[in-house]
Amino acid sequence: MQQRLAWAITGSGHYLRESLAILQTLESVDIFLSKAAAEIIKQYGFQDLIDATGHRVYQDKTASSIPVELFYEGKYHSLVIAPATSNTIAKMAYGFSDSLVTNLFAQAGKTRVHSIVFACDTAPELESEAPRDNVVKVYPRQIDLDNVIKLKAFTHTEVAEDMQQLQQYIMHRLAAVHQMDAE
Ligand SMILES: Cc1cc2nc3c(=O)[nH]c(=O)nc-3n(C[C@H](O)[C@H](O)[C@H](O)COP(=O)(O)O)c2cc1C
Repeated sequence: MQQRLAWAITGSGHYLRESLAILQTLESVDIFLSKAAAEIIKQYGFQDLIDATGHRVYQDKTASSIPVELFYEGKYHSLVIAPATSNTIAKMAYGFSDSLVTNLFAQAGKTRVHSIVFACDTAPELESEAPRDNVVKVYPRQIDLDNVIKLKAFTHTEVAEDMQQLQQYIMHRLAAVHQMDAE
């Protein structure tokens, strides 16, 4: 079976546009949306962009996060979570798995599938894109920054600091997967 990349999106407006720009360039991807992501994507007017990727989209509609079964079937070589809200980061850092995206991260960890996470709250002071092309100032709390640091200690997990690093981690990972397939 040709393994695919799982890409999860959470309800973050910050770096949503930039994350989708990277996602658009990739093939063999399935998209997973948190409930908040499904709303935010519409608020920012990015639904057409998601549709245009042609990728299969899984929504967070079940209590047990049924799509995570796909990890146990070996369907995915890697999981990308970008952008990841402070909410999802906090839950993942403390081992919660009570939503589709936190379940994907937990099951990826338990099946030793490599994860790449981009946390939108990575610096004490940020400028963030709001709906309708507005820009707002955001000051992530110490707990938000601490949770990102905590997540960096997880095995099989890379936490990207910015979009360039996210792109770099994804490209390295895809190259490594292709190399393993070729051997
Ligand atoms: C317009 C809008 C933009 C948002 N942007 C962010 C953001 O950049 N970062 C963040 O952590 N939360 C942001 N939120 C809040 C999250 O969507 C909210 O905490 C939600 O419960 C996250 O759920 P999820 O982590 O399951 O996706 C935003 C909410 C709205 C309405």
